[in-house]
Amino acid sequence: MIKNFFGGFILEDLLKKLEESADYIKQRINRNKIDGGLVLGSGLGEMADSLSDSTIIDYKDIPNFPVSTVPGHKGRLVVGKLGNKIVACMQGRFHYYEGYSMDKVVFPIQVMKKLSAEFVILTNAAGCVNKDWKPGDLMLITDHIKLSWDNPMRGPNEDKLGLRFFDMSHAYDSRFLNIAKEEAKNLGINLREGVYMFLSGPSFETPAEIRAVRTLGADAVGMSTVPEVIAASHCNLKVLGISCLTNMAAGVLGDVELNHEEVLETGLKVKKVFSQLIRNVVEKI
Ligand code: HPA
Repeated sequence: MIKNFFGGFILEDLLKKLEESADYIKQRINRNKIDGGLVLGSGLGEMADSLSDSTIIDYKDIPNFPVSTVPGHKGRLVVGKLGNKIVACMQGRFHYYEGYSMDKVVFPIQVMKKLSAEFVILTNAAGCVNKDWKPGDLMLITDHIKLSWDNPMRGPNEDKLGLRFFDMSHAYDSRFLNIAKEEAKNLGINLREGVYMFLSGPSFETPAEIRAVRTLGADAVGMSTVPEVIAASHCNLKVLGISCLTNMAAGVLGDVELNHEEVLETGLKVKKVFSQLIRNVVEKI
């Protein structure tokens, strides 16, 4: 495989690789298209087990797919029916901190597009920066901040996927936001709304970084989702993003240590209600 300077795919390869991956998936699922994609964050992967008529495809079997390395991330694509939609659920995503180049991180999103998906729903575990909220709260992502220099669309543009310069002012689909709010209300969920900030990790932030993040206008911090949202916007996929606030971010509660176990534990506690919300939203979009 030919790599560019940063270890990503060179452009001529991209469409071919996307097609190879999509063709393999189409053949495995016996369908030519899906309605949408779901990316299931830490602790939320089990939701995919409730799809009906599902086909489970290990990432390692999909041509050109990276392989996930994080505990709690299974590394398989489950395609099936969720209510009235055919969805492809990613049980496990690819993170920048694992060492993948940004273009690898977003490759599955572009494969969803190649499968004719119209939307992606991105979920994640995030640290809670907003002092008025608490671990276990769910947050609708209304906007995001990414100040790191890298960008998944950096490099030659694939015009067949999207524009060189593309709008991000409506990255989070307003109709989807309304549906999510409505469905949360119906379920009695106190759904928060806020700004998610991407920081590359894998180190958690320092208390000073969290104070800076709050000053910049973020309500939550995490190590995923934003690259995927950028790639989805580039290829015109509609996006809904929801964070599970698994822990108060560094320093918010004083001198308390952060660890991945807490992130997974909180994810497990809310997974039932989180899954129900996603299920109801998918039905309505
Ligand atoms: N910081 C960054 N990413 C996270 C956190 C956090 O506190 N919790 C879960 N993902």
